[in-house]
Amino acid sequence: MATQMKNTTKNQMKDALIIFDTTLRDGEQSPGASMTRDEKVRIAKALERMHVDVIEAGFPIASVGDFDAVQAVANAIQDSTICGLARALDKDIDRAGEALKGANSARIHTFIATSPIHMKMKLRMEPDAVLEQAVRAVKRARQYTDNVEFSPEDAGRSEQDFLCRVLEAVINAGATTVNIPDTVGYNVPQQFGELIGNLIARVPNSDKAVFSVHCHNDLGLAVANSLAAVANGARQVECTINGLGERAGNASLEEVVMAVSTRRDVFAPNVDHIDRSQIVPCSRLVSSITGFNVQPNKAIVGANAFAHESGIHQDGVLKSRETYEIMRAEDVGWSANRMVLGKHSGRNAFRTRMQELGVSFDSEEQLNTTFVRFKELADKKHEIYDEDLQALVTGASLEAENERVKLVSLKVCSETGEIPGASVTLNVDGDEKQAQAQGSGPVDAAFKAIEAVVGSGTELQLYSVSNITSGTDSQGEVTVRLEQGGRIVNGQGADTDIVIASATAYINALNKMLAPVDRQHPQV
Ligand code: KIV
Ligand code: ZN
Repeated sequence: MATQMKNTTKNQMKDALIIFDTTLRDGEQSPGASMTRDEKVRIAKALERMHVDVIEAGFPIASVGDFDAVQAVANAIQDSTICGLARALDKDIDRAGEALKGANSARIHTFIATSPIHMKMKLRMEPDAVLEQAVRAVKRARQYTDNVEFSPEDAGRSEQDFLCRVLEAVINAGATTVNIPDTVGYNVPQQFGELIGNLIARVPNSDKAVFSVHCHNDLGLAVANSLAAVANGARQVECTINGLGERAGNASLEEVVMAVSTRRDVFAPNVDHIDRSQIVPCSRLVSSITGFNVQPNKAIVGANAFAHESGIHQDGVLKSRETYEIMRAEDVGWSANRMVLGKHSGRNAFRTRMQELGVSFDSEEQLNTTFVRFKELADKKHEIYDEDLQALVTGASLEAENERVKLVSLKVCSETGEIPGASVTLNVDGDEKQAQAQGSGPVDAAFKAIEAVVGSGTELQLYSVSNITSGTDSQGEVTVRLEQGGRIVNGQGADTDIVIASATAYINALNKMLAPVDRQHPQV
């Protein structure tokens, strides 16, 4: 990498690497990871606390809900630039411009595919027409903001000569960032790094724009490709918390940031402006909101990322931590669970801690309802951690989402030598309905009883439980994934009683499945 870096010069406009987070847009394109407006605002505030430079908040034309969410994020965030995605179409760009009106700093990100396969099979357009549409889109976006990003979609499989022509033209038209996506995760590091170096060297006006990369992880190379691009002159990396994103996901923000900051000796730009201590809290927040658990051995944010199992390692770390640790757990936000509130904490302490976590209440009534839930939790669990508070807020917003089916009561019976059984009462579209069922365990029985009431015919694809904090009084966080006719939804639930958490998660997923979908995907 050190030698590749020598090719890097034309585009070094500043020393800092721009971190562009797309958790709220590409991350949300993961099946089942859709987020409500308020959830997006909470994540955006966490990203702002981390000092992420650009937050891509969504694809405003996708639906009224997506527009509202981008608008809410634009209004709520002060320091980061808020970006909205738009295909290279007037109506998309106008909608993005409208959604971003309230932002302190707004960027429109417009894109059109440039690879032979996408132009021929998807767009059914000739290359010259694609180039013309790209230029037109950038000029239109410039009418709303002077911060315009252009992406040639599937650049990783596009012809270099054509890419150079397109990039030169869009930069002349006013694009201030040109983003090179490896849309299908096909590239490998050396080749991708060379591609970026070549583009910077060959595009005559490359010094007028920041070169960015957006890598997908289909071959597990998204981070490696992004880093190779940085070594060859890219000065913006698009990434997501926990590597969330379409299919196998995007480059993970935490891995990119920690690689660049840990290996300052290798990379020219720095990420000193990023508050790395916010990484773990942000990862947990995204995981709790989307229900996408982080694998234990995931770098930086996995539960085992800093755990030393072998005796030799433990001994080495105790003598001198650098023997086996290249980063400090506390620098990325791992801290021993810190008790923040308890049974005797009052409303003010509760409100203050919530504010520190980026949670604000729309009304006194909303604060009161959440405070009552907090008190109920504190009665069951004496020490309340930040993670518990996050789960509490997520739970309240999930409940608000449950428009058609609500849990009224659940009773389960589990006894040695007996078949477990469950009895459930649900409110379905305003009517109370009841059913009993038996199952191989209490959770199975509860799901069968719910299904006996709702009769959804959905297929359970995933059931996972994890503890939010440590200890047997911890809340269990449950994710349930359901599938029907190719549509996939995730539901979440959290409770100190994992059977109730499971039933809540199942009901949340059912509500999502029953909700109408009016949403457009940007890349089809
Ligand atoms: O993967 C991709 O190509 C994208 C573009 C919209 C940038 O997400
Ligand atoms: Zn993408």
